[in-house]
Amino acid sequence: MADYEEYKKDSKPLTLFNDETGQSFQIPVLKGNDGPDVLDIRDLYKETGMFTYDPGFTSTASCKSSITFIDGHKGILRHRGYNIKDLAANSDFIEVCYLLLHGELPSSTDKEKFEKVITDHTMLHEQLVYLYRGFRRDAHPMAIMVGVVGALSAFYHDSTDFSDLNQRMIASHRLIAKIATIGAMAYKYSIGQPFVYPKNNLSYAENFLHMTFSVPTEEYKVNPLIANAIDKFFILHADHEQNASTSTVRLAGSSGANPFACIAAGIASLWGPAHGGANEAVIQMLEEISDIKNIPEYISKAKDKNDSFRLMGFGHRVYKNYDPRAEVMKKIAHDVLKELNKLEDPLLKIAIELEKIALQDQYFIDKKLYPNVDFYSGIILKAIGFPTSMFTVLFAIGRTVGWISQWKEMIEDPINKIGRPRQLYTGSQSREYQQLETREKKSIFKWLWKSK
Ligand code: SDX
Repeated sequence: MADYEEYKKDSKPLTLFNDETGQSFQIPVLKGNDGPDVLDIRDLYKETGMFTYDPGFTSTASCKSSITFIDGHKGILRHRGYNIKDLAANSDFIEVCYLLLHGELPSSTDKEKFEKVITDHTMLHEQLVYLYRGFRRDAHPMAIMVGVVGALSAFYHDSTDFSDLNQRMIASHRLIAKIATIGAMAYKYSIGQPFVYPKNNLSYAENFLHMTFSVPTEEYKVNPLIANAIDKFFILHADHEQNASTSTVRLAGSSGANPFACIAAGIASLWGPAHGGANEAVIQMLEEISDIKNIPEYISKAKDKNDSFRLMGFGHRVYKNYDPRAEVMKKIAHDVLKELNKLEDPLLKIAIELEKIALQDQYFIDKKLYPNVDFYSGIILKAIGFPTSMFTVLFAIGRTVGWISQWKEMIEDPINKIGRPRQLYTGSQSREYQQLETREKKSIFKWLWKSK
């Protein structure tokens, strides 16, 4: 076991005592620079013959990381030590990408160079355009994202050897740069409009708006307030510790799969409504509530154990306080709707009223359910003109830098091992094979043959 001496500091091991056998085991305790200590159980199975059991990983640290820190009780989110609210107020997305990838804020020269590298990678290989044509017009843009990003590994062989730092960096830059182009093209394809090439004189967010909303028939002028809102949107989605999609990227990468395939796996995981798909589900929920007077009915549905309805955009595995990103998002929603003269948007009014009522309700207070990053984000995107099917695409565009930074950190970890969890086996024990003629005649597959 590679020792983490530097993380043992002066911690005392935890003694595990097995009442049955009278054996005791010393479990080392590792201390990070912030947040909970961890029990180093890497030798537990070897020493005790037992596994730990933690479906959903509610109490499990899967890795060590220096990229993002979350204190769920205090509602704190930091990237490389910088508070998300400071970054959202003072930084821009390109600078946050550099910070996540390299660990420090860039000098002005480095920032300029980094922005140029990303800008120079925004175009897609022209042949990839034909891949879009293979999708049905009504294909969900996230389905297209999974397909096209996975296909990048067929086009960029010169950056799939992750053992070479230079190739790791090229792949990282390509993914950060191209994910916005791929997302905009997915939208254009779904509405039957021509693809729009990126423009090198535009910022990352301006370019995305230009590729999404401009048409060849007229000049498209980017609204600076909207571009700033999208830039902040990407910052707020950039990374979030070991969430489901990031853990998917790490697990895929631990087998040595190329970075493009790993990010495609992350996109697939993000699509789920319990994760990144929640922003789309929030709008669908607000539209279903449709009037402030219906809110009490939906609050009681959310509290009813026998009703599968959940308040989308509420609750979080880690935050047991207000998600700091939701706070910033709420302010951006107000500014965008004001700029677009949509402050009377009924969905915004329902969302604000829903939040107010839920936060005073004992059920939500007891279960520490607060609005999360997805609660207000959909209102912003809808007001700007994105269809709900594009909401998770924008989440994926922002999160790609987090995924690739976490992937790179894992690859560069000297003790990087293939991820291979075990299980609590609850299936049949050993039994003899039964010849066909000796088996029960009655079918057990009711669902298959609609057997009587
Ligand atoms: C993201 O991990 C990340 O960091 C994710 C993310 C990121 O940046 O990567 O932050 C992005 O995915 C944000 C979350 C978006 N999802 C939603 O808004 C969907 C609605 N919320 C949930 O389904 C739920 O809150 C989760 C999935 C977000 C968290 O679920 P957990 O941690 O597994 O908690 P749980 O399902 O065990 O719920 C705990 C209790 C349960 O009640 P009991 O069984 O204990 O009685 O709280 C209840 C749940 O029923 N509950 C809700 C609720 N969320 C939890 N009840 C009503 N409405 C909700 N939204």
